[in-house]
Formats: sequence, structure tokens, C-alpha cells
Amino acid sequence: MPLGRTEPPPAKLIDRFGRRVTYVRLSVTDRCDLRCLYCMSEKMTFLPRNQVLTLEEMARLGRCFSELGVVKLRVTGGEPLVRPNVIWLFEQLGRLSGVRDLTLTTNGTQLSRYAQALRDAGVTRINISLDSLRADRFHRITRLGQIEKTLVGIETACRVGFEKIKLNSVILKHRNHDEVVDLVRFAIERGIDISFIEEMPLGVVGDHDRAETYYSSDEVRRDLSEHFELLPTIEGTGGPSKYFRLVGEETRVGFISPHSHNFCGDCNRVRVTAEGRLLLCLGQEYSADLRRALRANPTDDERVKRSIIAAMDLKPRGHDFDLQAKPIIFRHMNMTGG
Ligand code: GTP
Ligand code: 5AD
Ligand code: SF4
Repeated sequence: MPLGRTEPPPAKLIDRFGRRVTYVRLSVTDRCDLRCLYCMSEKMTFLPRNQVLTLEEMARLGRCFSELGVVKLRVTGGEPLVRPNVIWLFEQLGRLSGVRDLTLTTNGTQLSRYAQALRDAGVTRINISLDSLRADRFHRITRLGQIEKTLVGIETACRVGFEKIKLNSVILKHRNHDEVVDLVRFAIERGIDISFIEEMPLGVVGDHDRAETYYSSDEVRRDLSEHFELLPTIEGTGGPSKYFRLVGEETRVGFISPHSHNFCGDCNRVRVTAEGRLLLCLGQEYSADLRRALRANPTDDERVKRSIIAAMDLKPRGHDFDLQAKPIIFRHMNMTGG
């Protein structure tokens, strides 16, 4: 089904700082078939299934948010495509009038199987994590991954005609920082975008030392500018990436720099965890329990919407990430998908 194209209702979600929330990131599972070292520890305990929202509850939330003026939905995880029947959810979200952008963040391992179904359901854009092009490093960073699966997934996605595909690379000093030029070349060859991400301190992730591996976006940009001409552009996707154009190429290079270039002032988004916690900021714990609101009001969407509106007052000014200090957020990234 195509995405609904009617005018969305005016934004009804406005926080104390006057920021309009028009973008929701919905995590559909905390599970994943990889264990990226910046995201998880090697041994993880995942949520028991009865604590996770059902797909019907997630579809209902999508409807409530779209009626509150949300125009962009991004499905995240964990790895969203490991959730059984998740394509059904995309089909429901793809039918919502008002939602102009239905997007997915994935590690790509299942894309060879699902790319076409996702496109048919109305997914407009997908972001695929790829931190290294070298099989041994890819395996070391993801702890479990085989690069071939992700590469085949990327090739399949490129064939089925998404409006945009973006690679996400978390850059870590001495792990993959010397691959930024190769990663950009890989993106150029496929006519797709790429974002470089500064690692964020979410959850304790074994003995990986985040301060030691910090590599700033400015350093990545310096390395790239020895090989490419980067032109700043104001184009964006409504997310935190600051984009540059490469002269003569389709590819845009983005930088997501929570440490070096704070973007909280423009924040337009909230997140829903797999267990239905509405998180008002990735880097803080303020949240509202939407699972309770959904289950207490099985047929009354207005009440659920009122809980969402009320929660806007909890949205803080921004995060307080500090790579030198012990993490103050114990939630791992797989709870929110970033
Ligand atoms: P678009 O929304 O389409 O622009 O995509 P995106 O790049 O924001 O989303 P994606 O899921 O690919 O996430 C890429 C990185 O951006 C992840 O590491 C996220 O954690 C990070 N990110 C997204 N939103 C925020 C935010 O509000 N705060 C912080 N600190 N990081 C964010
Ligand atoms: N810091 C920054 N990015 C992270 N990701 C996962 N964990 C972290 C972290 N601690 C990235 C993934 C994926 C995106 C959704 O978030 O690589 O591309
Ligand atoms: Fe899985 Fe994504 Fe976390 Fe890697 S970053 S372990 S692919 S959820």
C-alpha cells in the first residue's frame, strides 16, 4: 500500500521549550542477531515476551501518534527484522494517512529476505549499519556477524527502489577509523548516503573503553577532506545528521556528533521502547508508561493520546553525555535503537 499523502493534522505535541515533536522512533524488539561492542555486552538478558508490546499495540500507537501530528515514523530495535511478523506492522504503519516518511534502521542481515516486502509495505527509506568493510573487523565489532550477509542485504535493498538508503558507521579509534575513506567510496559506488556517528555512552558494554576509542566527527571530516571535496548543505532528513555533498556525486556524507556538535536544541523526536516506555530523550531517563495506558484503555485511543500529550512536559532540554565518566544511562542502545 502506498503511504497516505493527505495533509497531516497540525502538530499537537509541543514540549516546554516550544519544540514540536513530529518524529517517533518505535523500537519493536530489544533482541538482535548481532552484539555490536558499543551497543551491547556479550551476554545480554532480553525482555520476557509478555513485557514487550504486541504488534497490534504498536500499530495502535502508530495511529495515535499520526493523529497527533507525527509525520515520520522510524522502526528500530534491537534488530527489527528478527521480530516475527514484523512486515504486518509495516503494512499497518504504511497505511496511516499523515505519515509521510516510514523508515527503518537495520543491521541488514535479513534484508535479502525482506527488502521487497518492506518496499511494498510503504517503507520509504532505510538506514543500514556498516562499520567495516573487512570481514575480520566486522566480525570483531559485531561479535557475531558475517559481513557477507549484510553486504548481500545492502545489494538487495539497492535493487528494490527505496527513495533513500543510508549507511551508518560508528567510528572508533583504532578499530575502524582508518576505513572512513573506503566506506565513503563504497557508498559512492552504490549512489547511497552515509553517516558517521560518534559513539554514545549508553549502558555498560563489557570492557570496551569508550573514552579511549573516541574519534570525533571533525577528525573524520579532516581525514575525508584529504580525498574528497565536501560541501556543507542544509539538506536534512529531520534527524540529527549534518550533511555534506560530495562534488559530482549522488552521495551525501552525514555526521552525527552528539559530543562535538550538540543538536538537542532542534530535537523533534521521541522514542518508544519495545516494552512501551515513551522516552522523551535518548540521553535521559524521563519516560511515560504507554503500555499501561494502552492496556488500561483497550478501545479508547483518546485516553492514550492524552497520556502522550501529557508526557511532552517531561521532555528535558537535552542529554548530558560524558565519555570520561561512568555511564549514567544504564539502558543499552538496543532498548531504543538509537
Ligand atoms: P533520520 O531520522 O532519517 O535522519 O535517521 P537517523 O540517522 O537519525 O537515524 P538512525 O536510526 O540511522 O540513527 C543514527 C544515529 O543517530 C544513531 O546512533 C542514533 O542514536 C542517533 N540519533 C538519532 N536521534 C538522536 C537523538 O535525538 N539524540 C542522539 N544523541 N542521537 C540520536
Ligand atoms: N553510540 C552510537 N551509535 C550507536 N549505535 C548503537 N549503539 C550506539 C552507541 N552506543 C548505532 C548503530 C545503528 C544506530 C541505530 O545506532 O550502529 O547504526
Ligand atoms: Fe544489534 Fe544494532 Fe545493537 Fe549492533 S547496534 S548489536 S546491530 S541493535
